[in-house]
Amino acid sequence: MATPHIGAAAGDFAGIVLMPGDPLRARLIADTYLQDAVQVTSVRNVFGYTGSYRGKRLSVMAHGMGIPSASIYATELIRDYGVGTLIRIGSCGSVDGARLGLRDIVIAMGACTDSKVNRLRLLDHDFAAIADFEVLRTAVETAARLGKPVRVGNVFTTDLFYGVQPQLLDVLRGMNVNAVEMETAGIYGVAAQYGARALAMLTVSDVIPTGEAMDAEARQNSFQDMMEIALETALQ
Ligand code: ADE
Repeated sequence: MATPHIGAAAGDFAGIVLMPGDPLRARLIADTYLQDAVQVTSVRNVFGYTGSYRGKRLSVMAHGMGIPSASIYATELIRDYGVGTLIRIGSCGSVDGARLGLRDIVIAMGACTDSKVNRLRLLDHDFAAIADFEVLRTAVETAARLGKPVRVGNVFTTDLFYGVQPQLLDVLRGMNVNAVEMETAGIYGVAAQYGARALAMLTVSDVIPTGEAMDAEARQNSFQDMMEIALETALQ
């Protein structure tokens, strides 16, 4: 039953799929955290795996970079493979280092965007791209139980990695938007359209106004904190 972008068989994916952007990160997650992980797709080297975490069947699959790529994988997982819950685990750029520093974790309650995808869905009206409330609540409670601080709020999903305007950063700060990334508003739109649950949690990898960026070790440590929250959330 392969789809154009996923080569798995029916039933190969668990009900919950964790989604990093990077295919090699998906492989690392499968190798590090899942028991008996089996690779279920590798079309275009976008890897997906299914295994179990503490006895629960769980999948991990990359979504690539940007809304178009993430939307393709999210759509096919939900519509064609019957996946019910997507949890994006990614990185973001803080718009204000004093409020949100390197390694901090943001849980995206909502996502603004400069993309038109959700307007295409809504006859050119604004769509409030929001997380699924139950998954959001579980993630926030799980982070608290684990003693890992998280910020919960708005993010901005951009089509332009290079070229975020300084005025836009001012406006985002002024509207209490925490960080910039490239997929969440699209994934939330797909989830709404196809009736699934979605949540994005993001680690700050850079502070956009200052150009500060995490080194490799900090990346790895902060990634582990977010992974623990995501895996424990998936268990609930
Ligand atoms: N993801 C991580 N950092 C980012 C940035 N500065 N802009 C957009 N997406 C990002």
